[in-house]
Amino acid sequence: MLEARAPIGVFDSGVGGLSVLGEIRQLLPDESLLYVADCGHIPYGEKSPEFIRQRCRLVAEFFQARGAKAFVLACNTATVAAVADLRAQYPDWPIVGMEPAVKPAAAATRTGVVGVLATTGTLQSAKFAALLDRFANDVRVITQPCPGLVELIEQGELTSPVLRDLLVGYVEPLLAAGCDTLILGCTHYPFLKPLLGEMVPESVAIIDTGAAVARQLKRLLGERELLATGPSLPAQFWTSADTEHFRNILPMLWIKSGDVHKFNL
Ligand code: DGL
Repeated sequence: MLEARAPIGVFDSGVGGLSVLGEIRQLLPDESLLYVADCGHIPYGEKSPEFIRQRCRLVAEFFQARGAKAFVLACNTATVAAVADLRAQYPDWPIVGMEPAVKPAAAATRTGVVGVLATTGTLQSAKFAALLDRFANDVRVITQPCPGLVELIEQGELTSPVLRDLLVGYVEPLLAAGCDTLILGCTHYPFLKPLLGEMVPESVAIIDTGAAVARQLKRLLGERELLATGPSLPAQFWTSADTEHFRNILPMLWIKSGDVHKFNL
């Protein structure tokens, strides 16, 4: 039996899902949040779907053991690999996944050219191909895998020259092709918005799905009368890598610091 005062479990391969956690915190301030970062195994973008599914199953069990009333897969790469599997395993558990914002981008573009920055795993998936088939028939979608970005963001590098050079290399060809709408299809990338803002003209819209996922979570909890009403407990964090490092970069990516524990699975 799920309870309204139970926490919500949020998961990403690393710190990227904190961009989604921030949206959830803003929309649902009364909810207690648990966050697991599998930093010991990044980048998921270069891992096999089977490996990612195994990690997701472990995290699902971990949240279940803590009575979580919902599971947010705050990772595009993990969603394409594992969300169907998790929903089959836990049919009564609200599970929210991420999906690159192809539909809103196709509706918004004026030049008819949309760029997608995402991981190799997301862009190569059948789920992403189906998304393009469904929503992007009338626009040109240029996909750009971005190896290396996640690793730098995990180090807390959001503006370093190395990261800037890498990002310019990914974004410039999209701009040269006439793209006026840029989809951030990985939850790590919203942390690069300030830097991207310096690289792309103002006429280029940069979109991600963190806020939409928070709204979807609210809808699912509301339908089941599972929205919390009381004051929330402080967010709790687990990482499968170094807790000290996570504690140090947390204030950069999250509104404040929090309890950080070791995720030993
Ligand atoms: N944050 C993840 C996503 O949204 C990917 C990061 C990784 O490659 O580990 O796709």
